[in-house]
Amino acid sequence: MATARNDTRETLGGRHAHLWWIRPDTVTEPAELARCRALLTDDEREKTDRFRVARDRHTCLITRVLVRSTLSRYCDVSPARWRFRITDHGRPEIGTPRSTLRFNLSHTKGLVVCLVSRGREVGVDVESLTRANRWLDLSDRFFAPREAAALRRVDASDRPTRFLEYWTLKESYVKARGLGLAIPLTGFSFDLPARVPDDIRIRLTPAVDDDEARWQFTLERFGRDHLVATAVERDGSEPVRITLREAVAPLV
Ligand SMILES: CC(C)(COP(=O)(O)OP(=O)(O)OC[C@H]1O[C@@H](n2cnc3c(N)ncnc32)[C@H](O)[C@@H]1OP(=O)(O)O)[C@@H](O)C(=O)NCCC(=O)NCCS
Repeated sequence: MATARNDTRETLGGRHAHLWWIRPDTVTEPAELARCRALLTDDEREKTDRFRVARDRHTCLITRVLVRSTLSRYCDVSPARWRFRITDHGRPEIGTPRSTLRFNLSHTKGLVVCLVSRGREVGVDVESLTRANRWLDLSDRFFAPREAAALRRVDASDRPTRFLEYWTLKESYVKARGLGLAIPLTGFSFDLPARVPDDIRIRLTPAVDDDEARWQFTLERFGRDHLVATAVERDGSEPVRITLREAVAPLV
């Protein structure tokens, strides 16, 4: 796994995507936190300050700085210069300066990730495995019938993890499409191999207007506590190569 200093210049070809990740609690230095905050626009600072719990404020701050510092690794634009627009469905995208880069963000307790591509639609979702038991009974409501049935066939001890594998994959697809919950979650499903999820296929019903062959997926375990799923748009038979990059403090 590559660990990148914040002044490392990165190149990103059309057949690659980079999955940047950081543990937010590694950014603690007060001077660095002040520099992070100074990078934000007024709107971003307000969004950050709206969280009542300090840990959530911190995660939001690190998310904003991760995306800014990450994008700046690929071009000659300083982290503070990026301006984002929010789509009608809530997805932040690059507004100015114009760029062929695309990104998607996800955050949960203990982990923030940013998936970057050159012109491809991308979606990423991170979930904490400690949540799995709590949500298990949602599968009948949010999963396609074949996913809910497959989940019931899994050993009870493996079920919470398998549940979260479906969940993160579904979120990654919804996020790559950028349409949020306008996509019916029961209208598409995943085939997960019994053990190593190295060949993950999506199946679409007519309720979802898309082409199954347009997407590739990955599912990764991050340490003991997190799962990360990615959805990346592909063209043709050659897969897009996804490389992990750890962002380390100081970010700015
Ligand atoms: C908002 C949503 C995009 C994901 O939310 P989430 O999983 O709670 O949170 P994540 O941390 O993974 O993602 C949040 C980030 O996604 C991005 N985002 C927001 N809306 C988005 C959209 N429509 N498309 C793609 N990305 C979006 C934002 O960057 C956001 O972070 P930010 O507000 O700090 O910038 C959306 O999918 C949702 O509301 N899902 C509902 C949850 C659900 O029912 N899931 C069932 C799955 S089986």
